[in-house]
Formats: sequence, C-alpha cells, structure tokens
Amino acid sequence: MAEAAAVDPGKVPCFNLGPGRKIPCIGMGTFGSDKYGPEEVAAAVAGALRFGYRLFDCASVYGNEDRIGGVFEAAFREGVKREEVFIISKVWNDMHGPGDVLFSLAKTLRDLRLDYVDAYFVHWPFPNYHAPGCDGDARNPNSVPFSPDRFMATWAQMERISGMGLTKNLGMSNMTVSKLETILPRCRIKPALIEMEQHPSFQQRELFDYCRSKNITVIGYCPIGSPNRPERDKSPGDVADTELPEVAAAAAAHGIHPALVCLKWAVQRGSVPIPFSVHAKNYESNLRSVIEDPLGAEEMEALTRAERNCRLVKGQVFLWPGAKGWEDLWD
Ligand SMILES: NC(=O)c1ccc[n+]([C@@H]2O[C@H](COP(=O)([O-])OP(=O)(O)OC[C@H]3O[C@@H](n4cnc5c(N)ncnc54)[C@H](OP(=O)(O)O)[C@@H]3O)[C@@H](O)[C@H]2O)c1
Repeated sequence: MAEAAAVDPGKVPCFNLGPGRKIPCIGMGTFGSDKYGPEEVAAAVAGALRFGYRLFDCASVYGNEDRIGGVFEAAFREGVKREEVFIISKVWNDMHGPGDVLFSLAKTLRDLRLDYVDAYFVHWPFPNYHAPGCDGDARNPNSVPFSPDRFMATWAQMERISGMGLTKNLGMSNMTVSKLETILPRCRIKPALIEMEQHPSFQQRELFDYCRSKNITVIGYCPIGSPNRPERDKSPGDVADTELPEVAAAAAAHGIHPALVCLKWAVQRGSVPIPFSVHAKNYESNLRSVIEDPLGAEEMEALTRAERNCRLVKGQVFLWPGAKGWEDLWD
C-alpha cells in the first residue's frame, strides 16, 4: 500500500471539465529544459506523487516518458488509484501526418505504461519540426505557416483517438484567438483544455477570457516565468516575474517566495499552473501554496498590473522561410 500523501489530494481543489470529468487546479511540469535528465525528472514525479500531486504535464518531446512511466506503474502497483491521477501528453510537431497521431499516442501509452491518458494535446498548431535542444537560430526549411485545413486534418485524428477511448479529453496548445475562431466551429469534438504560456508578466487576457467564454479550461505553462528556460528562449528584454514589484509586494505580505505568489494568482484567476522543479522543497511548497493562505482581492487586482507583455517562449525555431519574425507565429 502507498503511504498517505503529505498533502491530501482530496483537499486540492479541482476544475470541472464536463460531466464526471475534473482536473486538479495545479500540476507538475515534466520538461527538463535541456537541464535535467529523464532520471532526475522521473525521481521528481515519484516524489511529487508521494507528496500528493495528482496532475502531470508530459509530452513525447520531453524525452522522458519511458522513465516517468516506470514511476506511474510503481505508484499504481503500490495503491495510488489510476482514476485519481490526471496525466497529460502531447503529439509533437513531426507527428501530424496521416496516421501519425495514433502512432504517437501508442508510443506514449507504451512509455507511460497506461491504457489511456486523461488529456492528449496538439503541442503546436503546425507541423514545424526542430531537433530537440537546437539553438535559437536554427530553422527548418520545410516549416510552413499555420493552415486551418492542415490543422483540421490533424484534429480529425485527435477526434478519432478520443472515440477509441485512448484519451478522456482533447487539448490544443500554443493557440491564438484568431486561430481558435477559425478552428473551433469546425471541430466535431471541441478541446476541453488549452495550454498557453501564462505568468504575471504575460497574462494573455484576451485569449484567457476567450477560452473561458467557450468553457475551455486554461492550463498555464511557465507559471513562474521559467527562470531556468533554455538559452534559445531567453531575450534581452525579458523580465523576471519573481522580481516584479507587484509580485514581490504580495510575497513580502505573506512571507512566502515570489514563485508561490505566481501560482496562487494563477489558480485564483481560474487557471491550472504546471510549475516544474526537481527539488522537493520547491515542488512541495508549490502544491501547498494552493491550499493555504490565499491572496486577497486587492492583491489579485494589483497583480493584473504586473502585465508586461513578456512572452518567453517565442517559438522562433518554428518559423518558415519568408516569415518576418517570431510575432508571425502568434498572428
Ligand atoms: N505546451 C507547451 O508548449 C509548453 C511550453 C513550455 C513549458 N510547458 C510545460 O510547463 C512546465 C513548466 O514550465 P517551465 O518549467 O518552463 O517554467 P516554470 O514552471 O515557470 O519555472 C520552472 C523553474 O522555476 C523554479 N521553481 C519552481 N518552483 C519554485 C519555487 N517554489 N521557488 C523558487 N523557484 C521555483 C524551478 O527552479 P529549480 O529547478 O531551481 O527548482 C524551475 O527551474 C514545463 O515543465 C512543461 O511541462 C509546456
């Protein structure tokens, strides 16, 4: 039997995704950011499961699903209930072609040692591939701009795997309002979840509100501002969320690390942050932060003013020949 978790997973609030479907309000990211290898990330997932996490954001491109799968298998053997853990994975850009989505998910399920995932995402809305760990100037000459028809061909495959019972929910990631306006009316099965970059200095208010108006739950990536992100995702004008005066003031008032202010803000705003850390001290305090000592209404209001339009994951490695700059990816 698994020993009792330090934080009772039943005390972590959930958001509803529809009849009988819900998602914990905070999860753990699993992208090692070119810095932490599969063993370290898998060890953190094991520790997080023991501590009480019940949501994990995985992806085939993170290159660690086979190790994380061993952790899940052991946890379920030791008594953690499969239906109490929400497991996400994503199809990478090089697997959008005919038949590829099922193929990709089959490999993910084998690696994660699962019969189904709780949500399967299209990681980026175009098939533009770059080698893992490439530098920021790398370009693939085969890259193409967003095409609604091409995307819908991929989405039809997503709908098929949903019908096969291999995923409980479908998701899209790295979308924009204008792409969603084109795509959503054409979806037979609408996404239950959208994953987007979201932290105090980059709140994506229009996209966030748009998703909520469509009953789509938002998962926020880089919720702390990704201080250890890969070099290719760093630009001279970037701001550090944990150093913003609005964040620092709330942190001082609560006597907590500014990272935890970012997470409380995300959850109280109604989104699901998926912070990453391999360090127990950090991932434990991250989970605890959402069940105690909430921010006040005035602090939440002050944090809306932390917006600096600071996109960190610009995606420039996915640009196609003839594109002017990374802004083209985001309409
Ligand atoms: N859909 C997509 O395209 C996409 C893109 C990017 C990311 N993601 C997902 O989002 C997850 C999170 O993104 P991210 O890792 O880039 O950014 P993040 O969670 O904002 O930042 C992670 C960093 O924050 C630090 N940290 C975490 N908890 C902390 C705490 N309590 N106090 C102080 N520092 C703390 C960690 O440092 P230490 O290592 O020192 O603990 C870690 O390196 C990823 O793992 C991935 O699952 C998805």
